[in-house]
Amino acid sequence: MRNLPRIIYRFKEYLLMSGIRVGIAGVTGYGGQELLRLAARHPGLEVTAAMASSAREGERALPALTGLWAGDVEPLSAADLARSTDAVFLALPEAASAELVPELAARGTRVFDLSGAFRLRSAAARARWYPRTPDLDLPVLYGLTERCRTALAGARVVTCPGCYPTAALLALQPLADAGAIAGDVVIDAKSGISGAGKTPSEKTHFSERHGSVAAYGVLAHRHSAEIEQELDREVTFVPHLVPLDRGILATIYARVRPGTGEDEVAGLLEQAYGDAPLVRLRHAALPDIKQVAYTNFCDIGWKLDAGSGRLVLVSCLDNLGKGAAGQAIQNLNVAFGLEEQAGLL
Ligand SMILES: NC(=O)c1ccc[n+]([C@@H]2O[C@H](COP(=O)([O-])OP(=O)(O)OC[C@H]3O[C@@H](n4cnc5c(N)ncnc54)[C@H](OP(=O)(O)O)[C@@H]3O)[C@@H](O)[C@H]2O)c1
Repeated sequence: MRNLPRIIYRFKEYLLMSGIRVGIAGVTGYGGQELLRLAARHPGLEVTAAMASSAREGERALPALTGLWAGDVEPLSAADLARSTDAVFLALPEAASAELVPELAARGTRVFDLSGAFRLRSAAARARWYPRTPDLDLPVLYGLTERCRTALAGARVVTCPGCYPTAALLALQPLADAGAIAGDVVIDAKSGISGAGKTPSEKTHFSERHGSVAAYGVLAHRHSAEIEQELDREVTFVPHLVPLDRGILATIYARVRPGTGEDEVAGLLEQAYGDAPLVRLRHAALPDIKQVAYTNFCDIGWKLDAGSGRLVLVSCLDNLGKGAAGQAIQNLNVAFGLEEQAGLL
């Protein structure tokens, strides 16, 4: 044990010399391509495996990444992923993650899963929303980075929160934790269409979405369960699809505890994010999707009518950045002792 500090030092030195070897499963999808774009330029990472499904044969081209990455896309293989990497990002449909996470974890690979498969802790909620998810016999960390930095160092399986929950939770959680929220909370969120993944459906088809806005999943969306789990209170969450390719804007309507003033709201958010490199507090200058698209920032603004206690928060992020790939890399950075924002600015 006397040699432990030296071993840790050598291990860190080894990682810094060679780069942390990462694999990406689902690299032909929207989240996976964003992961590859970020990981290929990241100073501390080396992409040693990039895999799509095994459903298609032949070469898989990623033209958007020409000049950034010159590897080959392989069909999915858990054994090859585990063999060639220190950590793996899964950007797969839930059912595929549900199958792969236990297998990779059993092989000792550190996993950062972008899907919702392992986000819900209650077995009943999981059975309802993610029926393919098995019980795991090792802990799963809910990876909202700003809330779990210390726990990330030892985590083997990190479930990265979804894009809607990240926008809602980053704005609400510091206030809810302090008991500053009273009464109903309504989260009215708008998402760009890439949030639905690369396979078009009748609902997400360009000709349906162009020039239109639609609510969906009203009172029946799995992200309600996730937001309620993390806030430990009920919320009304209404997602909308808007004709943008990427970005999420959540407008949150709440009431504060009587007597809560602007200084207290600002103070709680500043205390939570004073040292957070990827959360920007905009105060009364409400944020806008254009300001966060193609970045890994979550921008939060708010207005309080202190007399009535009405609080409106606006939280904004890029669903493929801070809402997916960027957040997963941020988690890996912290988990492996790198700078939190490495490769993300
Ligand atoms: N899009 C977002 O904004 C966003 C945000 C947060 C979280 N997420 C979550 O991240 C995950 C990926 O989302 P996405 O939008 O990137 O999806 P996507 O664009 O549909 O891409 C899915 C990827 O998974 C692969 N795949 C599909 N079926 C598979 C199977 N049965 N086994 C193995 N691989 C399979 C696809 O490979 P092929 O090309 O070979 O089909 C593709 O590489 C989802 O769980 C989603 O809920 C997405």
